[in-house]
Amino acid sequence: MGKVIFHNSVSLDGFVAGPNDGPGNPLGDGGEALFRWYFSGDTEVQLPGSPALKMSKRSAEVFLEGIRTIGAMVVGRRMFDIAGAWGGTPPGEPCFVVTHTAPQEWVKEGSPFIFVTDGVESAIEQAKAAAGDNSVAVSSANIAQQCIRAGLLDEIHLAVTPVLLGGGVRLFEQLGDKPIELEQLAAIEGDGVTHLAYRVIK
Ligand SMILES: NC(=O)c1ccc[n+]([C@@H]2O[C@H](COP(=O)([O-])OP(=O)(O)OC[C@H]3O[C@@H](n4cnc5c(N)ncnc54)[C@H](OP(=O)(O)O)[C@@H]3O)[C@@H](O)[C@H]2O)c1
Repeated sequence: MGKVIFHNSVSLDGFVAGPNDGPGNPLGDGGEALFRWYFSGDTEVQLPGSPALKMSKRSAEVFLEGIRTIGAMVVGRRMFDIAGAWGGTPPGEPCFVVTHTAPQEWVKEGSPFIFVTDGVESAIEQAKAAAGDNSVAVSSANIAQQCIRAGLLDEIHLAVTPVLLGGGVRLFEQLGDKPIELEQLAAIEGDGVTHLAYRVIK
């Protein structure tokens, strides 16, 4: 079975989106700073269904290595809604969306989305089965917190960006009151970003 890995860009003060995030403001106020590193170099990275990114060579290597092994994705319903269901082309497929209510317009033959209404453990179990030896990418902070609490997360990969957002969606909260030990796997400097990777010690 592959690993379950959380990937996100985060501000130095620990936010994955600024205040007032929503469908018209996906990364919240000031949150675009979290992804400046996508456009701060001259190495082109082309993903299906997205405009070309231009990042530094080292960031491109980290980024491409991160997505190379993704076999399934798990997100929360807020991210799904805020991203407008990525127009039907999520960054990882199949894409398991944890929610209380499945949006019926996406429950159809050929949909890349599978709506999971019986919790995060079930979503991760289904995503792991779909991914086989490849990894499961967790992409929402709220889902990542639940995975950490349930001992389901294997690694945390962060792109730490030079901005203090001061508010918004916190990456690490509601983790319980026991320390969670991590092992550092990588610390790589890009242009306008530091890529950090940790293993969660269980
Ligand atoms: N910086 C980055 O790299 C990055 C990347 C991706 C996204 N983002 C941003 O990060 C934010 C993600 O939002 P978020 O972390 O607050 O929310 P989220 O995890 O995307 O979604 C939370 C929602 O998922 C549903 N849910 C969660 N756990 C559930 C459970 N156990 N059972 C049933 N339903 C459950 C609930 O929605 P319902 O009750 O409505 O079903 C809940 O309100 C957005 O602002 C997004 O733009 C940042």
